[in-house]
Amino acid sequence: MSELTNNQAHPDIESILITQEDLNHIVSRMGAQISADYAEKNPLVITVLRGAFIFTADLLRNIDVPCSIDFMAVSSYGDGVKSTGVVRIVKDLDTKIEGRHVIIAEDILDSGLTLSYIVDMLKSRGPASVEVAALLVKDIPGKTPSLKPRYVGCHVPNEFIVGYGLDFAERYRNLPYVGILKPEVYS
Ligand code: IMP
Ligand code: MG
Repeated sequence: MSELTNNQAHPDIESILITQEDLNHIVSRMGAQISADYAEKNPLVITVLRGAFIFTADLLRNIDVPCSIDFMAVSSYGDGVKSTGVVRIVKDLDTKIEGRHVIIAEDILDSGLTLSYIVDMLKSRGPASVEVAALLVKDIPGKTPSLKPRYVGCHVPNEFIVGYGLDFAERYRNLPYVGILKPEVYS
């Protein structure tokens, strides 16, 4: 089966968590919230590559106030499924963020280690504000994430999630939905 053609689950997917249609609703709601909060502020939306690229592309089309975009890439997982706690900047911003209202668009908040690191690093550059828009937040029993995003798309269970930009070993980013990866694929 092609990974691109439809909403039917790929054979490596245990179940579809968020359909394409639900994603449209979620992202348009987030875009409306941001538009309401950032009129006149010309926010700079920062995509954390690579996982957030599809989310950000859709989010931007749902923001109807002036805004701009820049990209940064960090690496925290390598090809594995566990956060190493070591965040490496692979690509830095091209934009000076001093005095700017920054919104970091992130695909998924798991331990929060990656985002906490990015937020602290960006705050040290003197922006007017820094907020986070996370498409997904993983609910981990007994654990509070080290960071609370201002905008949250959806909470997901503590499983390994792929699709709509999220990968396992660089695969599955092209799935048009968000699904749970079968554990036998990564264990
Ligand atoms: P954290 O530092 O533990 O919050 O991990 C955040 C980063 O790890 C995200 O930006 C993702 O790139 C990746 N990640 C965490 N959980 C998942 C998952 O379930 N599927 C795919 N990538 C994940
Ligand atoms: Mg990511």
